[in-house]
Amino acid sequence: MSRIFVTRAIAESALSKLRARHQVDVWPQPSPVPADALATALRDCDGVLSLLTERIDETVLAGAPKLKVVSNMAVGVDNIDVAACSARKIPVGHTPGVLTQATADLTFALLLAAARRLVEADAFVRAGKWRTWDPSLLLGRELEGATLGIAGFGAIGQAVARRAVGFGLRLLYHSRREVDFAGATPVDKRTLLAESDFLSIHLPLSGETRHWLSTADFAQMKPGSVLINAARGPIIDQRALLAALETGQPGFAALDVTDPEPPGADEPLLRSSRVLVLPHLGSATLETRTRMANLAADNLLDVLEGRRPRHVVNPQVLS
Ligand code: GLV
Repeated sequence: MSRIFVTRAIAESALSKLRARHQVDVWPQPSPVPADALATALRDCDGVLSLLTERIDETVLAGAPKLKVVSNMAVGVDNIDVAACSARKIPVGHTPGVLTQATADLTFALLLAAARRLVEADAFVRAGKWRTWDPSLLLGRELEGATLGIAGFGAIGQAVARRAVGFGLRLLYHSRREVDFAGATPVDKRTLLAESDFLSIHLPLSGETRHWLSTADFAQMKPGSVLINAARGPIIDQRALLAALETGQPGFAALDVTDPEPPGADEPLLRSSRVLVLPHLGSATLETRTRMANLAADNLLDVLEGRRPRHVVNPQVLS
């Protein structure tokens, strides 16, 4: 029997799977585990099932000598020092695939909400400002024939592209590798920025992609374009975005992620009418979160019970 720490209450089906064969402790609060509590909890643990809100770094690992697996309930692993885990031969699990459709749906919800000014329109009605049908009231943007640029053309980027085809959007993508996707044209970053009416970010966060969009990049964006980010907040230089929005390049930002999360109450972006912000809801459907919890549990159990886990980001450590 191994000792497992789960850093938040997750789907019961996943927890019972873990409890059936191991000793499981679950962080009882509805907020991230503070660093000192995490250190205490992991001191004698064999496995941790973490969320993207927990930073698992060298200090944490050094205080957890028995740790054999870190299993993240997320596709992104930027909260984990993977190199430090690999150096200790600790596999790092993650949950790709199961959240692709939900995240693409949410991306499209952001795109449509921005194009048709849904949040502004809802506030307009609630404020009692709706007097009559008006031919020039809250006019938005047509999708048919507009250009959607996708930065990062992995599973989620392609799922967004499939949805875009149905809306008649012209598709450009920028990616490290060329992907065979009918109707989507690979372009360099400059072309992507210059030609996209809607630019959607689907890159993983890494040293290379931190502030992938900064002042000089915003200046290349199409005037009046819409920037959508359902990937990771730090891919965008948030300070630079605020200034860029003032110039109209881009004209609007629809963000599911921020840097930091949550943004501080004094975050200036929250006072801008050119921004729509959601609390990181990309994978937030009951079905997807249940699948993510179960996949994270399976990855963890596989390592602890000597099977080859389905999804680890550092498979080289598996013997
Ligand atoms: C969510 O953002 C994830 O990486 O799964």
